[in-house]
Amino acid sequence: MDFKGIQEKFEELYGKAPMLVRSPGRINLIGEHTDYNDGFVLPAAIDKEMIIAISENGRTNCRLYSYDFQESFETELGNLKPSETGWANYILGVVDQMQKAGYTIGGFDCVFGGNVPVGAGLSSSAALECGAAFALSQLFNLGVERTQLAKFAQKAEHEFAGVKCGIMDQFASVMGKENHALRLDCRSLDFSYFPINLQNYQIVLCDTQVKHSLASSEYNTRRQECEQGVAAVQQKHPEVKSLRDVTLPMLEEVKQAIGTVVYNRCRYVIEENERLLAGCTLLEQGNIEGFGEKMYGSHTGLSALYEVSCPELDFLVDFTKNTAAVVGSRMMGGGFGGCTINLVLKEEKEAFISQIREAYRQEFGVDMKTYEVAISNGTSQLATA
Ligand code: GLA
Repeated sequence: MDFKGIQEKFEELYGKAPMLVRSPGRINLIGEHTDYNDGFVLPAAIDKEMIIAISENGRTNCRLYSYDFQESFETELGNLKPSETGWANYILGVVDQMQKAGYTIGGFDCVFGGNVPVGAGLSSSAALECGAAFALSQLFNLGVERTQLAKFAQKAEHEFAGVKCGIMDQFASVMGKENHALRLDCRSLDFSYFPINLQNYQIVLCDTQVKHSLASSEYNTRRQECEQGVAAVQQKHPEVKSLRDVTLPMLEEVKQAIGTVVYNRCRYVIEENERLLAGCTLLEQGNIEGFGEKMYGSHTGLSALYEVSCPELDFLVDFTKNTAAVVGSRMMGGGFGGCTINLVLKEEKEAFISQIREAYRQEFGVDMKTYEVAISNGTSQLATA
């Protein structure tokens, strides 16, 4: 990412040199819709990022400029409320959380932009939130710990963007490490860096280029459905706190009471946690093919039981089943659009990409984008030139 343009825009608008922060988007290898159920995820930060240029302005307001949308926004920092300007909310939400936690945030100016595709399920919003939280902590010498930055960013998404997301995206953005995934327990936030050695395979993302409007309302509905399942199980097993504590036999006991939809949602989550743990063992053994099977299993569950896929995502995953170049494929992120993640044989990559793009064009009349991403470090300050 060339951050020069963003730095220059900052200097043009505000007449001084900014501090620069880089904050990445993320992928997730397996473990989808498990984070807000106290389960496990396996995300990694990627080499697509937001760049945040920031500086104190000595006033009581913030002046924001989106480099990509070429729009500005300004507000006083007292008593912040969600704004009509969607992109501003990711920054304002973070300021609001930090203020509520007792930190004093002085006036500041900010220009941001980046190459995390928006709406592709690569968490451009988390990248921006985490970048803003980190930048503010640096700028005002607050010394906020990284996990706490991720929590502020998550809460900003809840309160200023209206999505009751889990911690995965923000945690991956802040804590990412080159060539490693994060194996994160979303209950305790214990995690380990999991080396990713895909041998002769490489990660290719296929971007459906759709984002169905259902995405955020259905996301919040899934969360409620999981809570309903937990509440039913708790009647017999009061020690249960979340789906993390529920086994399939326990779920069977309440099947009649909760009905098919809630049953299917809960079953998917329980199975996905099991798939992730088994998948990590397979990766440790160097069994990429076995891991790929788990990815397909994850997609089937997301599509048939959790019902967060869409025809475009299903088409892309199904297409790979007929090609020997791909060992595993599944939808990634919240669903209803965005990307699939694919493990593709390196030497077959070019041929695979042109075949799947052509097939997608024929089926949906859309030129699909693909991204080859590398696993990168988390949010950090950049040296300024
Ligand atoms: C979105 C949310 C995450 C997570 C995924 C699904 O990316 O922001 O917290 O729930 O969906 O795994």
